[in-house]
Parts: sequence; C-alpha cells; structure tokens
Amino acid sequence: MKTFIGIDLGTSSMKLLLVDQRGKILNNQRIEYEVSSPLKGWSEQNPSSWWQALDKAIPLLLQNQKAKDVYAIGIAGQMHGLVVLDEEDNVVRPCILWNDGRTQKQTDYLNHVVGKDVLSQHTANVAFAGFTAPKILWLYENEKENFDKINKIMLPKDYLVYKLCGNHTTDFSDASGTLLLDVKNKRWDEKMCKICHVNPNWLPKLCASFEVVGTLCKSFASKWGMDEQVKIVAGAGDNAAAAIGTNAVRDGKCNVSLGTSGTVFVASDNFSVDKNNALHSFCHATDKFHLMGCILSAASCNSWWMDVLKSNDFDGEQKNLQQLLGKNDCFFLPYLTGERSPHNDVDAKGAFIGLNASTTRQKMTLAVLEGVSFALKDNLDVARQSGLKIETATLCGGGAKSKLWQTIIANVCDLTIHLPDLEEGPSYGGAILAMVGSGIYPSVQQACDRLVTIKEEIKPERQLVEAYQQKHQTFKKLYQSLKELFKTM
Ligand code: XUL
Repeated sequence: MKTFIGIDLGTSSMKLLLVDQRGKILNNQRIEYEVSSPLKGWSEQNPSSWWQALDKAIPLLLQNQKAKDVYAIGIAGQMHGLVVLDEEDNVVRPCILWNDGRTQKQTDYLNHVVGKDVLSQHTANVAFAGFTAPKILWLYENEKENFDKINKIMLPKDYLVYKLCGNHTTDFSDASGTLLLDVKNKRWDEKMCKICHVNPNWLPKLCASFEVVGTLCKSFASKWGMDEQVKIVAGAGDNAAAAIGTNAVRDGKCNVSLGTSGTVFVASDNFSVDKNNALHSFCHATDKFHLMGCILSAASCNSWWMDVLKSNDFDGEQKNLQQLLGKNDCFFLPYLTGERSPHNDVDAKGAFIGLNASTTRQKMTLAVLEGVSFALKDNLDVARQSGLKIETATLCGGGAKSKLWQTIIANVCDLTIHLPDLEEGPSYGGAILAMVGSGIYPSVQQACDRLVTIKEEIKPERQLVEAYQQKHQTFKKLYQSLKELFKTM
C-alpha cells in the first residue's frame, strides 16, 4: 500500500497527516512552537524550530505504520515569510513572518514612491506589510550585514523542502505572495528584483505545486526508516493548499479559513485583479489563479481571549450563546496584530466596544467570534462588489470546529457553509498534491473530486442575516471612527 504525508507548516504549530491513496487518514500529529516578538509589532520564528518539529513529528506519525510505504510528501506553509540563507545554506537570521508589522516605511515606499500602479502592473498586487518584498527592503536598510550574506531567499515551506531533498524550489502559489512574481505570466519579475536589490540568482526555481522537485535525502530516509525514493513535491502556500484540501478548485469556488489568520479564498480560471487591489491576486496550486482576502487575526483572537479568561474550555465558554445570536450589543474589533485586507493598516488595534453594566463574559466571547466574522465579511464584500457571485463556501481551520462559529459565519456572511469531513485543509491539500505528483491521480481537480467529501451543510437564516447586516454597518463605522486614534496609540 502506498501512503502519503501532508504537512502544514502553520504559525503556532505543525500539523501532519498520513493518508492512503483513497484519502483515508491513517494517523496525524501536531507539534506546537512559539512565535517570538523581539519588538512591538515584530513576529519571527527560527526555521530550525520548524525542522525540529518535523524531525520529532515524523517518527510519531509513523508509529505503528509501515514507514517503507510512504511514497511522497507534500508541504503547505505559512506564506510570505522571509527565509534567507548564506553561501553555505545556513540560515542568516530568524524568519520574518507574514504577520510582522515592522515594514510600514518600506510598504509606503513601494505603494507611494514606486507606486501602486507599477506594482499592480508587474505583480498583480500592491504592497502589504506582511509580504516578502518590503521585508527584503527592511533588511537592506536595517541589517545590511545580514543582507550582504544573502545567497538564497525562500519561503517557509521551501526551507523544509530544501532540508528534505536538498533543492531550492518554490511553487507559484507561495511565490505570488512575495511581490516579486509576475503572477499573470508566472515568472520572477526583473523590475521588482531591481527595486528590492534582489539578485535573481537568489530566488528559488519556480515549480507547479504538484511537481516532484526531489527525493528524500539518504540520511533522513535511513533515520526515519523510509525509502530513498520518497518523492517530495513543491507544495503550496497554506491557503492554496487549504483550497485543494476542501476542493475549492473550480472557477468561483470559495473556501473560508479560520486559522491563526482568516481568509476568504475564491478560485478563478482566469487571471484577474480587483479594482483597488484590496484582494490578493495570486496563482492557485492548480495551474489557475485565485483572489484572496486575508485578515491577520482570526482563530488567534479566540485563543487570545481564552488566554485572558484563563480558560481552555472552548466548548464550555461558547455554551448557550446560540440564543444571543444577532442580539449582541457588544462589539469586538479583531485587529490584534494590525490588519491586512481590506484595510492594509499596521496600526489598527483590537477593541471591545459597547460595554455596559449588563455586559457579560458570554457576550464578550460572542463578540470575539462575531468580530472576526465581520472582518471576513469586509473581504467577502469586496469580492462580491467586484462581480463574483459567492453563495456557498467550505470552511476549514481550527476555528471551523466550533458549531457556534460555523453558524455565525453562515449568517454574518450570508453563505451556505459546506463542512468538509476534514477541517485540516492545508495538510490534506499537501497530501493530495503529493498524490497528484506521484501520478496516482491525473489532475488536482480529479483528485479533489475523488477525495474531498462534505459532511454537513449550514444554511443562513433570513432573520439572522438581516440582523447581522445591520450590526456589520456598526462594525464598519467603529473601525472608521477609531483608525486615526489607533495611529497615536
Ligand atoms: C495569507 C497569509 C496567511 C498566512 C498564514 O496571505 O498571510 O494566511 O499564510 O498562514
């Protein structure tokens, strides 16, 4: 029997799945790690902590399984992170993550001096603080000694691919988030490289997500008891992989993800850019494209709130809240680490608003789930305003486990939600890409049609949708009223 490993290199943990070629989950593992924040707004991780997690997780994943059956590995990874290697392939400095906010100056330079039109023309996107290009500029301006050591630039999952098979590659979906890729024509953009002082030789080879880019290094094959012929595919950015894992592949299909970040992902057969570049226009992990809105704090808002409450009883805290749906007078702005889409505002902050003498812990818990859902709706509205008709969506990520949150998303966003059997979208997507790369399935679409199943449908209820439409108007005004004040805090 052939088996496949799908890996999700997440922000707070690494999740691994071992699946057979019919998509049956044989085992799973999750290893947590820390994000460090050496200065306010900074967010870093050392690539060695990802590798340590992987090295620890693989033997656990293969416990009671036949390691020699593993046929291929596919990795999905947190996007936009800047990993820099020197001439000896040593990591030069900790990876600057997707939710790091230090690059306001460089982002402003790109958007306002180079100009949004030029960026959009060359890359199909404008600059956001979390993207890779402003981070490269930041390194150039602030850590020249580190910048001068650069011999390779890569994205987080590409580092693991490199460790596994020794090759420097990336895939089109993840490369899209660097702001160095000409998304439309799927090639590195020379002008952007010049603007960012990047020697094009530093950039990894561009591959399709399901392309086999190497085989497992001998030393790891023998350490883990695997065959040396285990194929490694290029993999994908976590959101494109989640879309594969939930079958958001055909034109117009939407996946909403509630992980550390939250995303609204819409697959598209054709290349397109929305009017104000509010959404990211990226390559999909198929050979097509997608539009995506990304909020920086989603399920992480709930984890933060649970930490504040000193509770780990996620279900208990959400008990009996159903009756408050649509009636909550407490609001929460979920901008705990600034905001990406659609506001592009590193200074945005979180806030509870509308508290009164009858505000309870329960109402505040509900406000957190609602606030994240309103922020996702802000992105969905941009997609809808640009002409996309989005009536159904799959839902995945840690937050998707909550029945209450599923109902809130369905009603705030006016979406019929389809819950896939597996909410681990990215790691399952990684495993599917590994199967396609190994020739088990002829295309990503055929693999998804065969392997992704839906277990439940949640329909929005008219009355609740209307109640939430009104509340969303208030939510939007709150950010608009506070945004200048946030800049001074
Ligand atoms: C997408 C984004 C996040 C990260 C988190 O643009 O920045 O979703 O990929 O893993």
